[in-house]
Amino acid sequence: MLILGIETSCDETAVAVVRDGRDVLSNVIASQHDLHAEFAGVVPEIASRAHVERFIPVLRAALTEAGITRSDVDAVAVGHRPGLIGSLLTGVGAAKALAWSLGVPLIGVDHIHAHLYAGTLDSTEPAFPALGLAVSGGHTSLYALDSWLSLTRLGATIDDAIGEAYDKAATILGLPYPGGPHLDQLAAQRRSDDEPHTFPVSLLGKESLDFSFSGLKTSLLYAVRGQPIGRGRRPTFERDHTALSADQKRCMAIGFQHAAVRAVTVKVSRALDHADDRPFRTLLVGGGVSANSHLRSELTALAKSRNLDLRLPPLTHCMDNAAMIAGLGYRLHQAGRTADLSLTAVPTAQC
Ligand code: KG4
Ligand code: ZN
Repeated sequence: MLILGIETSCDETAVAVVRDGRDVLSNVIASQHDLHAEFAGVVPEIASRAHVERFIPVLRAALTEAGITRSDVDAVAVGHRPGLIGSLLTGVGAAKALAWSLGVPLIGVDHIHAHLYAGTLDSTEPAFPALGLAVSGGHTSLYALDSWLSLTRLGATIDDAIGEAYDKAATILGLPYPGGPHLDQLAAQRRSDDEPHTFPVSLLGKESLDFSFSGLKTSLLYAVRGQPIGRGRRPTFERDHTALSADQKRCMAIGFQHAAVRAVTVKVSRALDHADDRPFRTLLVGGGVSANSHLRSELTALAKSRNLDLRLPPLTHCMDNAAMIAGLGYRLHQAGRTADLSLTAVPTAQC
């Protein structure tokens, strides 16, 4: 079965063709980073307009790369929640038009759940129950999965998502946008005589499976800029990142990366410890931050020590993509969970 996947929830316009929920025949992604860089964040209006402009060329490229024509498509799956409403609407509108004109089923897919599916693409079926970790620019959540269609949220961030914290931290350090990968690269240049800055690891008590990253971000802000002068929403500071030497900047980046990743791995360990009644057999990881080198090596070690099958997507499937949408869309289709033309774009998460 050939499913055409569509993903436009934020600032990537993506279309993919996936066979039987597993084989990725094409995975085309048009990123908008250049359009949003001067604002150091995604501007929703600009993102929606860019999706409209880019959708048809991306669709054509995905069909060509897969070696198929529109009439070969058996169903259309679209990421319809959560995300920026204007961005989601462009993809949902396109998906409805395609499904209707081709006379094939339409499937609405949850973007975060789809991130957890990414490590299954071009791979084997994982064993359940599985623990799911979604780490992206918009979300940081833990899930228990009894199957692809049965998810329970165990915890989530109470403030910033981890990717958002990475991007803001990178801006504070004067790194280019989007900063997550740049901060990761800087921290990975650690030298033997480096003395990394120590930042607090926010654990929210001894039991919680929730996350918090805003305190870490503020600690970095003060460490880089010194004490705020004056009050209000936009205080001025003693200095900025230009006062830091290259070594100091690197030590800040290493310290931030350490604290951010530790906050995640502690919660993953807790979730595994709490799961005596249904021991997890697999750890599914997805979202842009699953490309992070330190997180990948820490999760690899953790999974090995716990005898878990770790599904870390290849780097091309970590970021927002439509192959994960088509993949999970196939599972929903098999379960009869198709949509009709009343499918709507929903900005909030399902669970
Ligand atoms: O999943 P994604 O493409 O979009 C959302 O659904 O949010 O994630 C994008 C996020 C951005 O915040 C980006 O900076 C972050 O993933 N990211 C990274 C790395 N690569 C991407 N963060 C830390 N280290 C990385 N290597
Ligand atoms: Zn995402």
